[in-house]
Amino acid sequence: MEKKRRIKTAVLISGGGTNLQALIDAVSSGEIEHAELCAVISDNKDAYGLVRAEKAGIPRYTVEKRKAERNPDGSVNTEDRALKQAEFERELVGVLESTGAELIVLAGFLAILSEDFTKRYPERIINIHPSLIPSFCGKGYYGLKVHEAALAYGVKVTGATVHFVNEIPDGGRIILQKAVYVKEGDTPEILQRRVMEEAEWVILPKALEMVSADMAKSEALNR
Ligand code: GAR
Repeated sequence: MEKKRRIKTAVLISGGGTNLQALIDAVSSGEIEHAELCAVISDNKDAYGLVRAEKAGIPRYTVEKRKAERNPDGSVNTEDRALKQAEFERELVGVLESTGAELIVLAGFLAILSEDFTKRYPERIINIHPSLIPSFCGKGYYGLKVHEAALAYGVKVTGATVHFVNEIPDGGRIILQKAVYVKEGDTPEILQRRVMEEAEWVILPKALEMVSADMAKSEALNR
């Protein structure tokens, strides 16, 4: 029997890696059958997600962004910031190329990626965001801040979105969304957990399977 084509997928993380774990579990259970996790890359050497990768036997890498220098008045030196960003992305691309990654999943990866980077991988980067885009998204909305903003606004329904990544923060084409009810007495932490359990860990594996299956299919058609 012909071996199934699996799309080599790199998962980029910054922290706990519960979304990474959902992907690892979905590959083990067979829910994901068109992707293999070829690398986990963290921009934070202490991220617990790196331990999850090690336990699952996935090659892991750390690529940290160096802090930009400050001007004498204390403001960030923008030239140096651009330089450090370019250095960071060069290193990231080097690791991605060395692993042969064909698809990239941002699973709680909190570093900003420039247009130079996203343009290299059109519709080849997917991201999970913990709200129903276009609500509570874009610059400054990440992690717990998203749920704080949703509660402060008083929305009764929130959720999660998986989308392709382009040069606009959280602006790429939507792949999947799932709604989650806000409940009386929710704190940002309680809401974050419910959004993860009911939405993120469900739609991220589904989206990876959809995108990788499409890639494998179009490759077969073009052969
Ligand atoms: C997740 O809630 C993810 O949606 C969010 O960070 C958390 C990472 O958790 N991502 C963003 O806010 C991106 N804008 P995890 O490390 O346990 O997967």
